Amino acid sequence: MKTLLITGGAGFIGSNFVHHWIKHHPEDRIINLDALTYAGNLENLAGIEESENYHFVHGDICDAALVNKLFDKENIDTVVHFAAESHVDRSITGPEAFIKTNVHGTFTLLEAARKTWANDDTRCRFLHVSTDEVYGTLEADDPAFTETTPFAPNSPYSASKASSDHLVRAYFHTYGLPVVTTNCSNNYGPYQFPEKLIPLVFINALENKPLPVYGDGQQIRDWLHVADHCRGIDAVLQHGRLGETYNIGGCNEWANIDIVKLICRHLDELRPGDKPKAELITYVTDRPGHDRRYAIDASKMLNELGWKPEYTFETGIKQTLNWYLENQTWWERVRDGEYRKFIEQQYSTL
Ligand code: NAD
Ligand code: DAU
Repeated sequence: MKTLLITGGAGFIGSNFVHHWIKHHPEDRIINLDALTYAGNLENLAGIEESENYHFVHGDICDAALVNKLFDKENIDTVVHFAAESHVDRSITGPEAFIKTNVHGTFTLLEAARKTWANDDTRCRFLHVSTDEVYGTLEADDPAFTETTPFAPNSPYSASKASSDHLVRAYFHTYGLPVVTTNCSNNYGPYQFPEKLIPLVFINALENKPLPVYGDGQQIRDWLHVADHCRGIDAVLQHGRLGETYNIGGCNEWANIDIVKLICRHLDELRPGDKPKAELITYVTDRPGHDRRYAIDASKMLNELGWKPEYTFETGIKQTLNWYLENQTWWERVRDGEYRKFIEQQYSTL
């Protein structure tokens, strides 16, 4: 039986991972440490609170006293570190929070693990969840990112994630901390905060609002269903080699404009009487420093761990868009901030 500290488990990928872990490893204990920033939503974990082996802690990964206390008291042997500021656009308008959480927060967790596991780390693992954005940008005909592609981050977000990756690496080489790192491509799926491309465009299209496409819309991302990402993290956690990094990706490259048109077609099929949704596409000013193309070579995941995506993009995107259709209350509450009321009531005395 393991005791997992999952950080950021109320966010998009973290909450999907909590669901995944409880389903596949019900005997393990989970401590979910999340600061519940704008992106953290306990409604993503509805029903989970009743699980005996699950415990939520409202707190900041930069709070060393809290993190050390959790390591001491809870006998944590596994860390799965998702907590981060994750939105590139927000990192451009306000980079400081990214440095604090992504760099200092990761450092705080590494230090706590180093101190607590110093004498008994044989069964311990620290898995750091990172991004393909640390590798920078690709030209159209460049080969995909491998684990040996040099880092060349271009946004405050990706620079902060690259810094955290370097710290994780250094703790392995200097202190022998049992770490593994995953670098994943763009995720899509249920519970994604509706400021990211796919949910944003779908919800705007549903409501006949403009669909903002940055620049010429020809930037390319490699999309992976979040459930496949969670399976990949599970595989790396259990069988990945310590000190290694693993690229996780969908082998599924799409230009942004084509994704937007795909979403429009899906809605046109569902609502044949409406005006074609593609008429709502609006080209807007490009993101500063916008990376042109990401693509992941996930052959190490396949060759070493036997992992490959199970979702085809066709099935995954339909399932995701249908989830947003069926869970209108979820995103309406996210959008109008209603989901935060519970947090304010619950934590007003903290
Ligand atoms: P998200 O923004 O949806 O969720 C982040 C979570 O972290 C939220 O619950 C938030 O409350 C929490 N958090 C933020 N600051 C915190 C702090 N200081 N202390 C404790 N909790 C804090 O992010 P996501 O999209 O789920 O991404 C999760 C991780 O995966 C991130 O590390 C991100 O870099 C990485 N990643 C994301 C993608 C993607 O496509 N979304 C792809 C590859 C890697
Ligand atoms: O590659 C992995 C990364 O994917 C993760 O590390 C990040 O946490 C995650 O947010 C995501 O970053 P992106 O910047 O690629 O995701 P986003 O959904 O913000 O944008 C996807 C693409 O769509 C990007 O090229 C910018 C573009 N875009 C985005 C928005 C929100 C638009 O054209 N219009 C928009 O309104």
